[in-house]
Amino acid sequence: MGSLDGRIAVITGAGNGIGREHALLFAREGAAVVVNDPGTAPDGSGSDASVAEAVARTIREAGGRAVASTDSVADPAGARRIVDTAVEAFGDLHAVVNNAGNLRNAPLVDMEDEDFDAVLGVHLKGTFSVTRAAARYWSARTAAGDRRDRSIVNTASGSGTFTPLPTQANYAAAKAGVAALTTVASLELRAYGVRVNAVAPSAHRTRLTRNVPGVSPGTGEGADPYAPDRSSPLTAHLSSAACTITGQLFQVHDRTVAVGRGWSLGERIRGDRPWTPEALGAALAELDLTDPADPLLAALDRLDDPERARALFRRALEDPATLRAMASSLT
Ligand SMILES: NC(=O)c1ccc[n+]([C@@H]2O[C@H](COP(=O)([O-])OP(=O)(O)OC[C@H]3O[C@@H](n4cnc5c(N)ncnc54)[C@H](O)[C@@H]3O)[C@@H](O)[C@H]2O)c1
Repeated sequence: MGSLDGRIAVITGAGNGIGREHALLFAREGAAVVVNDPGTAPDGSGSDASVAEAVARTIREAGGRAVASTDSVADPAGARRIVDTAVEAFGDLHAVVNNAGNLRNAPLVDMEDEDFDAVLGVHLKGTFSVTRAAARYWSARTAAGDRRDRSIVNTASGSGTFTPLPTQANYAAAKAGVAALTTVASLELRAYGVRVNAVAPSAHRTRLTRNVPGVSPGTGEGADPYAPDRSSPLTAHLSSAACTITGQLFQVHDRTVAVGRGWSLGERIRGDRPWTPEALGAALAELDLTDPADPLLAALDRLDDPERARALFRRALEDPATLRAMASSLT
């Protein structure tokens, strides 16, 4: 018995990295899987239909059920076809994992419109489009009297939530948007039995992170804190009919799962008369405000050479040339 027996799942960006691990685990746990991936380069350009098919074939050869889909999540018609593929191939859809991703890092002063649009288009618009296509299908099923547990797991990131990364204005904005979309969708879609959560992988070694200082080559199955499969058990649980959790964001680093608390209100000040800018400035100066650099530098502890990474980030925050070099090395 697998935890996903009888479930039919779509996993976007499942041809490489984290999504591939999700697809393999979902199949081992009994799900029928639509392996969606157009097979792009890390920056989202190009396409290679063999990438999704290779993962689908691996699943079938191990006795599982899988079909490949090469549509782009960035295309709303493609997003609809991804959902249709599940229904046509397997007769229904129960779980969606929005995992597809690209990266176009650059210092904000160098970032081109197309770099911003391409990243928002895959991560944020893509998550929206696939979610909407699935939600429309589930809304119709519910109206037809078919109500059961359905789930969406979105993929967020520390960049944009807990540890915004320099050179990722596009990616951080997209991932913060994914976190916000998750909470709103979890409220709206519960009427159709749909749970919506997000998982933020931290330092999983894939082609997107292989140049991050400190995410070193693997040290072997089970002992590798950066293995790309670390988020898959949580993603599978959140996608199972046995799970009741909704509206949450979890960060996963190695075997540690942390609940994300998101934006929350801290200390407050209230004027006994309408504020003047000057009075407000004086009152704000008394507050204990967090510099976004602090959680970022603290989070580097989880890399295997934190001091080297911290020195690089400190230099990048002061020196545009180092920031530029960081952008190209992180991509
Ligand atoms: N690796 C990490 O540590 C880490 C950390 C935080 C978040 N993430 C997120 O995890 C997800 C997976 O990233 P990864 O590290 O495995 O990278 P990856 O490059 O190995 O995998 C991403 C996959 O998405 C596919 N893709 C790109 N554009 C697509 C599109 N338009 N439609 C469908 N698929 C598309 C790519 O072809 C690729 O196979 C991404 O959303 C990424 O932002 C990763």
